[in-house]
Amino acid sequence: MGPKREAVFVCQECGHESLKWLGRCPSCQAWNSLVEEVRPGKSGAFGSLAATRTDLGAQPRAGEPPIPIGKAVSREEQRFSTSIGELDRVLGGGMVRGSVVLVGGDPGIGKSTLLLQASQGVSSSRGRVLYVSGEESVDQVKLRADRIGAASDRLFIAAQTDLGVVLEYLRSIAPMLVVIDSIQTMYHPEFPSAPGSVGQVRESTAELIRFAKTSGVSVVVVGHVTKAGTLAGPRVLEHMVDTVLYFEGEQHHSYRVLRAVKNRFGSTNEIGVFEMRDGGLKEVANPSELFLSQRPVGAAGSVVVASMEGSRPLLVEVQALVGATNFMGTPRRLATGVDYNRVSIILAVLEKRAGLALGAQDVYVNVAGGVRLEEPAADLGIAIAAASSFRNVPCDPQTVVLGELGLAGEVRGVARVEPRLQEAAKLGFRRCLIPRNNLKGLGKPAGTEIIGVENIGAALEVALLR
Ligand SMILES: Nc1ncnc2c1ncn2[C@@H]1O[C@H](COP(=O)(O)OP(=O)(O)OP(=O)(O)O)[C@@H](O)[C@H]1O
Ligand SMILES: [Mg+2]
Repeated sequence: MGPKREAVFVCQECGHESLKWLGRCPSCQAWNSLVEEVRPGKSGAFGSLAATRTDLGAQPRAGEPPIPIGKAVSREEQRFSTSIGELDRVLGGGMVRGSVVLVGGDPGIGKSTLLLQASQGVSSSRGRVLYVSGEESVDQVKLRADRIGAASDRLFIAAQTDLGVVLEYLRSIAPMLVVIDSIQTMYHPEFPSAPGSVGQVRESTAELIRFAKTSGVSVVVVGHVTKAGTLAGPRVLEHMVDTVLYFEGEQHHSYRVLRAVKNRFGSTNEIGVFEMRDGGLKEVANPSELFLSQRPVGAAGSVVVASMEGSRPLLVEVQALVGATNFMGTPRRLATGVDYNRVSIILAVLEKRAGLALGAQDVYVNVAGGVRLEEPAADLGIAIAAASSFRNVPCDPQTVVLGELGLAGEVRGVARVEPRLQEAAKLGFRRCLIPRNNLKGLGKPAGTEIIGVENIGAALEVALLR
């Protein structure tokens, strides 16, 4: 008798498993997303989800007995550069050997372009790279390669969706890096679930992780993103791999931002900024300049804030539009690029502590260029932008603003002020409005006036032109 087989229903959106079919996934609330998968019983090669999960580390099964941590020998992580500085930065200082990186992003954002450029960089300066495309033919990949100038002898391309065959290629070519574009197109005929199902995606990923950890080859897999902005396929993918990067940007803008959302080998705060050109993605050495390039200098409601993205200061423009509401009762409030609740609090503080009658005003706040500001250090900039638009008085265009706003209207100190001031000085801003608490012992860049403010009232006094 063969191994007992069991059927489970797996949500194609989030990977939730259920023993019976349900119209709506109880985990991610997606309708009609559960699909039946048949697996060998728990004694089989692929057991229940729990069993698969514990396999994922892909370390030798028999293993060694536990040892005191002091006796464990730490292998220094070995990294190599991808030849793309911005990508190296997001990875935490280069690609770690034997690591598995998942790159997600909206359709057409430039994932294949970025990874083909990285493949070209690694193959021309370090060693062999295999680029496996499951979506495009070799001709199509070649067209892109011509466009970006990828022609290294050590760069191998293959159009293949059978993971078994890919693993054979890997054994014969022995590359140092392999790119799988995309994981959703891969299937392994030996795996029990249907091609294209979440089970296949998960099992293919597990197989690639096992390969990476045993061979030391770095693996990059591309993952598609659903409309909701999460990686299509089971959420568990994100738990399995070492690093998850998102490639974001707007289709209609030429710049793209690469962000780490998980990194076992580095910080997740770093971003990489690129510009899409005819010849591929170009690194943007000075993103602040790019984000400020279309600023309406001297317009009411526009304020430049100094935010930190990882270790890098970034100057971005916050815009606000405040106008009398056409709706009876509740005015409209919209925020893009900043947290909506944060904006609500800031407006309440402006109303109560600075006497701005915003109760019957629609307020729209936007961070220009599609950047997301997560830091409270952007609070003061948002407040000044709203006040500037409300009073229809521009903020001094030569001023950069930073500070957290407290409920009492106080401007609270923020971390790492100096790099922000340096960035502002570098871009030619003449004045910086900072929390008074940050003034002590501050190294001031030459040529920039630093003004410490204690509360929102004083900040508006200084920032807004009359
Ligand atoms: N000749 C060109 N000149 C400028 N930009 C181009 C050109 N051809 C393609 N692009 C840009 O490259 C993008 C497609 O890049 P790419 O194929 O790398 O994206 P992707 O994220 O891999 O897409 P998919 O989700 O389809 O795999 C296009 O949206 C376009 O912005
Ligand atoms: Mg692609």
